[in-house]
Amino acid sequence: MNTAHGHGYRITENARLDARNTFGVRARAPMLVEATDTAALPELFGYAMLRAPDTLVLGGGSNLLFAGDAPGAVLALETRQIALLEDDGHTALVRADAGVAWHDFVLWTLGHGLAGLENLALIPGTVGAAPIQNIGAYGVEVRESVQTVAAFDRTTGTFVRLAASDCAFAYRDSLFKQVPDRYVVTAVEFRLSRTFQPRLGYAGIEDELRAMGVEGAPRAAQVAEAVIRIRRRKLPDPTVLGNAGSFFKNPIVPATQAEALLAGHPGMPLFRGAGDDTRKLSAAWLIDQCGWKGHRDGDAGVSADHALVLVNHGQASGQDLLALARRIAASVQARFGVAIEPEPRLVGARW
Ligand code: EPU
Repeated sequence: MNTAHGHGYRITENARLDARNTFGVRARAPMLVEATDTAALPELFGYAMLRAPDTLVLGGGSNLLFAGDAPGAVLALETRQIALLEDDGHTALVRADAGVAWHDFVLWTLGHGLAGLENLALIPGTVGAAPIQNIGAYGVEVRESVQTVAAFDRTTGTFVRLAASDCAFAYRDSLFKQVPDRYVVTAVEFRLSRTFQPRLGYAGIEDELRAMGVEGAPRAAQVAEAVIRIRRRKLPDPTVLGNAGSFFKNPIVPATQAEALLAGHPGMPLFRGAGDDTRKLSAAWLIDQCGWKGHRDGDAGVSADHALVLVNHGQASGQDLLALARRIAASVQARFGVAIEPEPRLVGARW
């Protein structure tokens, strides 16, 4: 393994990525570039190997599955500054570099008396990855707080700033996911509030606050604590058991199809979809009904605590996990007539 240093970056040839994906599967990249200064990006993308469309920008590796080795160079941003840009006593504008760990950033905002991200506590990954799949949990999506995304545009070789309204944010989706080879997110600016309006609509948060002994209006940090407790209970810790959170997106189907399914399965959870004529189904429930919870094929398995989470019990390969995911999706299709799709990015395979 050869390592070379430049100004603001480090290059390793034939790098192992096992510790850079939370599934913990074996994978290599012909070249790993770790950039500590985004000013190095124009120089780096001057090299043919990085300019190639198969260059992969890697955040915390918590939302991807290596079904094989990375086909091209892998770029990881190791930038970690957080700055308060504006603060008028009511709202504040905060910029965080792409390489900041997401949960550390949430804790920073809470420590500075800023609300808006508390429901998104403990999500693995980095700030730079957050807008890509528009991370969401417990009734809140990150798009609600994002004001601007700063990025390096690989097609023009320039730095750009995109307003949230230009990012095509939708459920687990964005411009960055739709056009994956164009932008390298370098930093995100968030509009946060000094006045806290709790968002407790999602099932379980109020119960958790009660169990914590919180009475009356909770503080933002208490809501974050409730979310952390729920997540710890339901979702396996990737440092203990390899996983990438939800492996499938909750499917959005026509309202008529959802109503027909509900008639046959009165206990089926049903959420509002993107509009009046669509509904969001619970992929976890569909998978659970097909009997997959706790299932294991060798070291590739389904969490015993949450049917939506695929886990690596040790030596599963990306191909093993993908094969299991395909069997799960086929069984949901056969039983309910609903197609479910992976949430993580697949590297080296198509769904
Ligand atoms: N359910 C089951 N079996 C299970 C788990 C859940 O039937 O094993 C049913 C229950 O009826 C439950 C419902 O599914 O009420 C929903 O479960 P949960 O509240 O855990 O939410 P989810 O829809 O499975 C989504 C996100 C999570 C996020 C939670 C909380 C997606 C793909 N996943 O999961 O995000 O933490 O809501 O908001 O939208 C992630 O994206 O990696 C992730 C963990």
